[in-house]
Amino acid sequence: MTTPTTPPETPGTPAPILEVRGVQKIYQGKQRNVEAVRDLTFSIAAGEMTCIVGPSGAGKTTLLKCVAGLLDTTAGEIVLEGERVTGPPRGMAVVFQEYGRSLFPWLTVRQNVELPLKEKNLPKADRESLVDEALAAVGLADVHGAHPWQLSGGMQQRVAIARAVAYEPHVLLMDEPFAAVDAQTRGELEDLVRALWKRLGVTVLFVTHDIDEAVYLGQRVIVLSMSPTVVLADVAVDLPEQRDQLHTRSLPRFAELRAKVYELIQQSKRGVRPGSGDEHEQPGTAVAADTQSGSM
Ligand SMILES: Nc1ncnc2c1ncn2[C@@H]1O[C@H](COP(=O)(O)OP(=O)(O)OP(=O)(O)O)[C@@H](O)[C@H]1O
Ligand SMILES: [Mg+2]
Repeated sequence: MTTPTTPPETPGTPAPILEVRGVQKIYQGKQRNVEAVRDLTFSIAAGEMTCIVGPSGAGKTTLLKCVAGLLDTTAGEIVLEGERVTGPPRGMAVVFQEYGRSLFPWLTVRQNVELPLKEKNLPKADRESLVDEALAAVGLADVHGAHPWQLSGGMQQRVAIARAVAYEPHVLLMDEPFAAVDAQTRGELEDLVRALWKRLGVTVLFVTHDIDEAVYLGQRVIVLSMSPTVVLADVAVDLPEQRDQLHTRSLPRFAELRAKVYELIQQSKRGVRPGSGDEHEQPGTAVAADTQSGSM
């Protein structure tokens, strides 16, 4: 659900598709309140692929839930396509990490993918062709009659991606979608997401713990501070658009960007916040190979 809002007056620049403006989220508990997110502001251009990284507990899932309209913000606002988000917006789809819980075990793969389309009031034939296309796009055309529990973890996550894609969202939110699959499947799913992103022109906001994944996937990596969360840094990923697991990951620039994001996350974990004078990456920051890990 969205309500109209006044677009910002910035002549000459295209309006962003998604704006997060001064968002604060405090969870109100019986015993205590938790300020998960303090003041987040950033905007995403239409068609952009943005990754969000930050320490565990930084509020990444909280942010995504607010953007998806599943949680109310305590302060600030989220604006999607010029309208303030006050509930799950029509133009958005979400893929969470727990594919096992997000698919209905009593429905077939096809029925799972088709389910959200029912609220769009499309003719049955259109629904069926959207489901067929989405399942083919994720390489699952031949298992449409199976139930999720008959599939591997990677295949189940493909079903969740197909369901999101079939819905034809303008914005696709993904919260650590590949955290539970093996490394090889993960690489394949990353390439699948990039291929779908390019083909469909969808705007993607992708949360991950994995620094390599963020640099490999993103055009931009937003690094969050520790909770209560603000944006610590916004790193442009100036790698060639054409990416593949072997060559892109062996580029010197990939290693530099990885080291840069790694160093920013270390700063974040040390409690560095914007304005403290320590948050800017030093170009070419040397991070000893044995202290680098691909994830946080
Ligand atoms: N429903 C809730 N009620 C109270 N506090 C919550 C709730 N959900 C999250 N929190 C708190 O908000 C903060 C941010 O949590 P969140 O799950 O958004 O972090 P995250 O960055 O997604 O972490 P991770 O990387 O481990 O997934 C944490 O301190 C967490 O304990
Ligand atoms: Mg999370």
